Amino acid sequence: MRLIEVVERCAARLDAAGVAFGHGTQNAFDEAAWLVLWACGRPLDALDDSAEHTLSAGECTAIESLLERRIHERQPLAYLTGEAWLQGLPFHIDRRAIVPRSLVAETLAEGLIDAWLGREPARVLDLCTGNGSLAVLAALAWRESRGVASDLSTDALAVATQNLARHGVADRVVLRQGDGLAALQPGDGPFDLILCNPPYVNTASMQALPAEFRAEPALALAGGTDGMDFIRPLMANAALWLTETGVLVLEIGHERAHFDAAFPTLDAVWLPTSPGDDQVLLLSREALMETPR
Ligand SMILES: C[S@@+](CC[C@H](N)C(=O)[O-])C[C@H]1O[C@@H](n2cnc3c(N)ncnc32)[C@H](O)[C@@H]1O
Repeated sequence: MRLIEVVERCAARLDAAGVAFGHGTQNAFDEAAWLVLWACGRPLDALDDSAEHTLSAGECTAIESLLERRIHERQPLAYLTGEAWLQGLPFHIDRRAIVPRSLVAETLAEGLIDAWLGREPARVLDLCTGNGSLAVLAALAWRESRGVASDLSTDALAVATQNLARHGVADRVVLRQGDGLAALQPGDGPFDLILCNPPYVNTASMQALPAEFRAEPALALAGGTDGMDFIRPLMANAALWLTETGVLVLEIGHERAHFDAAFPTLDAVWLPTSPGDDQVLLLSREALMETPR
């Protein structure tokens, strides 16, 4: 059978099984293409080149086994393959950390932050680094920069360690473990740029999450009743860690209403990303200084 036919069959089975997407793909066809190409050891970004390939019996067995696991275990495919892609870069991933998919990566790739920075940032903080993907992307975007990547989870930091090494930036990015900004050491800052994709899912939304999202560490997602538990102290203290012209770029996902309610007077710049222009915001040090404490 031709590979493209098997992709279509797998997509139909994923749809029929009602699996949830959102960990690298948004629909059954893209997820099936990833699954089939990965099981066959073919390049993931060139479906057209493999579409007419006739599958061997061994390849069919490998596809079936991965598809069965995806449907029955309800884990993100990235946990089953051990690899996720963000902005064209591969990252090691497993259940110790959330699957990389931050919208902040889009703002880096599209240079949306650059105009606010004025010059290349010398010091970048990736707060809540998880798998380390944003720290890696920033270090590769600004080759002269030095980074700090911090997280509360030692498990997540173990994954980040692998990814910093994989992308050759471990000598420029130091890892710190601890709660929010308290993880930092005196010489770490001040930063020209703080990137942060924190846990921000409100409690009601946490309770409605599909199984694939519940397979991820709850620490990475749960943001308390209104999703702002991590963000409140960050707003109060981030300015202390920024240079005079420094900025904070923060992802809040679908929590715009809760964010506005919590910080009604904040002068935020909303950055456009693929799902809309209300999920990632930028705050200057000056704007943060005016946040009521
Ligand atoms: C949404 S994930 C983001 C991970 C990664 N930056 C990304 O974009 O894929 C949030 C991360 O925040 C970490 N975290 C949760 N509470 C924290 C806290 N109080 N201090 C520091 N990190 C925390 C979690 O362990 C998780 O890795």
